Amino acid sequence: MMKIVRHFFKGPMPEFMAGLIDNPWRRRIIQPPDKTAIRHGIMPGMTVLEIGPGTGTYTIASARRVGDHGRVMAIDIEPKMIERVQKKMAQEEVNNIEAQVANAHDIPYEDGTFDVIYMITVMGEIPSPERALREFHRVLSSNGTVVFSELFPDPDYPRASTLIRWATGTGFKLKQKIGNFFYYTLIFEKD
Ligand SMILES: C[S@@+](CC[C@H](N)C(=O)[O-])C[C@H]1O[C@@H](n2cnc3c(N)ncnc32)[C@H](O)[C@@H]1O
Repeated sequence: MMKIVRHFFKGPMPEFMAGLIDNPWRRRIIQPPDKTAIRHGIMPGMTVLEIGPGTGTYTIASARRVGDHGRVMAIDIEPKMIERVQKKMAQEEVNNIEAQVANAHDIPYEDGTFDVIYMITVMGEIPSPERALREFHRVLSSNGTVVFSELFPDPDYPRASTLIRWATGTGFKLKQKIGNFFYYTLIFEKD
């Protein structure tokens, strides 16, 4: 169904589709937010960047995981998504997130800032994945990791082999692959 809707709405996922992605079935069974933060290698005290947080469900879990000594920055190209993240931060009383509108092509942070950069069902929407990957490389610390999680039902789902080709062509090497065709996570480090 989402693949059909997406056929007519190209570009970044419109806000009205956020509810289709952010549903209880996904949160409880397939991709529970707390377990996802652990799967992504997020540890207390880290400085983390989330690209394309959508409604912010996974941003909140990451912020709880990094704790009082860590920080999570979240950038999304859609202002309405950032509004939703900020609303959720207020509702959940989470104070260690900085959410702003920005494009993955031009990340508004200094070189070497982040321990972990992650994104969930985002890469297939980015017009120039190579340009975004070069930005991830720039803002990642020397021993940091870049993490991609993809779900097959996402209409913009890229195959793992495609993502590996993009990432290894822009200065990363694969550190770990978790999951299966339906739900995979790829963890890269600087080559
Ligand atoms: C399919 S949604 C996924 C949302 C969230 N990660 C999740 O899994 O629930 C993709 C998100 O990526 C954002 N996005 C798309 N292209 C982007 C870009 N070039 N830079 C930053 N965010 C982008 C969209 O606005 C949307 O919020």
